[in-house]
Amino acid sequence: MLILGIETSCDETAAALVENGSRIHASVVRSQDTLHAPYRGVVPEIASRAHLSDLLPIVEQALGQADATLDDVDAIAVAHTPGLIGSLLIGLTTAKCLAWLLERPLLAVNHLEAHIYAAALGRQEPLFPCVSLIVSGGHTSLFYSADAVTHELLGATIDDAAGEAFDKVAAILELGYPGGPAIDRAAQSGNPSAVALPRTLLPPPSLDFSFSGIKTAVLYHCWGQDARLPAGGMPRPDTAPGLALSPSQKADIAASFQEAVVDVLVQRTMEAVRRRQVKRLAIGGGVACNRRLRQRLGEAASETGIELALPPPALCLDNAAMVAGIAYHHHCRGKVATLDLDALARTPLSRASPPRR
Ligand code: KG4
Ligand code: ZN
Repeated sequence: MLILGIETSCDETAAALVENGSRIHASVVRSQDTLHAPYRGVVPEIASRAHLSDLLPIVEQALGQADATLDDVDAIAVAHTPGLIGSLLIGLTTAKCLAWLLERPLLAVNHLEAHIYAAALGRQEPLFPCVSLIVSGGHTSLFYSADAVTHELLGATIDDAAGEAFDKVAAILELGYPGGPAIDRAAQSGNPSAVALPRTLLPPPSLDFSFSGIKTAVLYHCWGQDARLPAGGMPRPDTAPGLALSPSQKADIAASFQEAVVDVLVQRTMEAVRRRQVKRLAIGGGVACNRRLRQRLGEAASETGIELALPPPALCLDNAAMVAGIAYHHHCRGKVATLDLDALARTPLSRASPPRR
């Protein structure tokens, strides 16, 4: 069964063709990084407009890459939650139109379950049951994944997502946008013990995360105790404290920040693995590209004697192959959406507010 997947939940426009939830025939992603870089964050209106102009050419490009036509497509899958509502609506409306015109099933995918499934793409051996860590710009969540479509939330961030903290610290240090890869690069030459930064571990049995304190600690370190992030959370380019720092100071702060975030992620994730007694750990989301996180989780997994299922970076970042992949399992279970499917900014896989502590 060949599924066309569509992903437009944030600032990547993506289409992919995946056979039977496993074999990727084509995967095309167009990043909007250069459009959002001047604002050092995603501007929702700009994102929606770019999806609108890019999506159909990207679908055509994916079909070309797979040497297929729309007639070869057996179902249309789309990430309809969570994300920026305007962005989600472009993908959803396109998917509905294609499903209706081609008379094919429409398959509704949760972006987070798609991120989890990225680790299962192309695998011969089973992945589930496993613990799944999703670390992205919008989410930091730990799940017990019983199978491809059954996920129990074990813990989540109560404030900033890990990727958001990377992006904001990169803005404070004037390292450029997107911040995660910039911190990852700068940290390579830095000393991870140079700056003492807090590791926020909420009292047991909580497996929740909190990253706002470490972001503020970096700001205070750079600007002093009276520093305040302006509304919107980003310093203005002309006043950013990063301007006064040398490259080696920036590298030390980047490495110290990265180490603190990775410490917390590894500690909490391995605690979840221990509690649920699983043999496999899957990670996904853009922050799962981080080299230090990949290395530290790899070490922790081998010490514990479990397998770390680590997707290649292209499948950690937003893409449509993970959407088309997981959709196959919905189809196998007869979970087909109707044309009144709606876009939801918040995901049913997230905990309802207020957060459980
Ligand atoms: O999963 P993703 O592509 O989009 C969301 O669903 O949010 O994740 C994007 C996030 C951004 O915050 C970006 O800075 C972060 O992933 N990121 C990284 C790295 N590459 C991307 N964070 C740390 N290290 C990286 N190498
Ligand atoms: Zn994502």
